[in-house]
Amino acid sequence: MATDGAPHIAFEQVAFRYDRTSPFVIRDVNLTIQAGDFVALIGQNGAGKTTLAKHINAILKPTSGRVLVDGRESHAYKRLEMARLIGYCYQNPDHQIFSQTVEAEVEYGPKALGNSPEKVKEQTDAALELVELTHRRKVHPSMLGRGERQRLAVASILAMGVSTLVVDEPTTGLDYTGVTRIMDLLASWSRQFKTTIIIITHDIPVVADYVDRTILMAEGQVLLDGPTPEVLQSFDPLARAAVRPPQVTRVARALDLLGGGPPIVRVPDLAWALMQRH
Ligand SMILES: Nc1ncnc2c1ncn2[C@@H]1O[C@H](COP(=O)(O)OP(=O)(O)OP(=O)(O)O)[C@@H](O)[C@H]1O
Ligand SMILES: [Mg+2]
Repeated sequence: MATDGAPHIAFEQVAFRYDRTSPFVIRDVNLTIQAGDFVALIGQNGAGKTTLAKHINAILKPTSGRVLVDGRESHAYKRLEMARLIGYCYQNPDHQIFSQTVEAEVEYGPKALGNSPEKVKEQTDAALELVELTHRRKVHPSMLGRGERQRLAVASILAMGVSTLVVDEPTTGLDYTGVTRIMDLLASWSRQFKTTIIIITHDIPVVADYVDRTILMAEGQVLLDGPTPEVLQSFDPLARAAVRPPQVTRVARALDLLGGGPPIVRVPDLAWALMQRH
């Protein structure tokens, strides 16, 4: 981890296209993420969120520009070095899960990193405990519910001892309880362990409720990057990115409550604003 105040992750004028003949799918991306940041990446389908995120741990290499992790170009790291630094959970956890038991799935990473059996057990136990799957450790992953599989995917990354998590669509397909569990976990790691967390999501209420900073993407470019309440209240850029502001914010606008006071992106914000008015 960088100790000199340098950003943990930096994108410098990054552009990327999947091959020489296809158009650029991300362009002019400049952004920095500090260790411990909790960030959401939002934007419509095809905006380039997953493509951008895959640059962080060098799954993809910029066509031009640079991506730095702790001051060094991401693709200059050896694969195992990078696996220890940054964990990436794929958009669909089922593309990631391949073992016969929950426990084996979580053990895979720490084993691949060459840890001793004691260390493997310690990290596996800790990760299962963190995602509340200890009681399911002997079960085949296909026996798990959607929310449990999502947590398993996160556990298998955490077990490698990473301090940075990139989680692509952590709440898709989950019911209210599943969403709350995974997001409460991520938020508590962010607070307790200062884990750097980048989530990619279409779930705007989740962003409003949990995430400090939001990066809005459209057509491969960053349109806005700032505190979540400000970004989610920026109607024009959101419209350009085809992202709807939170329902609460739209109601607040209809009631002429926006502007002047604090942003209104969550239900308690709206309740507070209404109480001030009456
Ligand atoms: N492997 C690939 N080869 C070629 N083009 C791709 C590939 N993956 C994505 N693309 C294209 O790159 C663009 C950005 O896609 P990307 O998956 O990064 O968007 P996204 O914002 O993550 O979308 P979603 O919200 O649907 O997951 C799209 O036009 C997509 O069709
Ligand atoms: Mg995506």
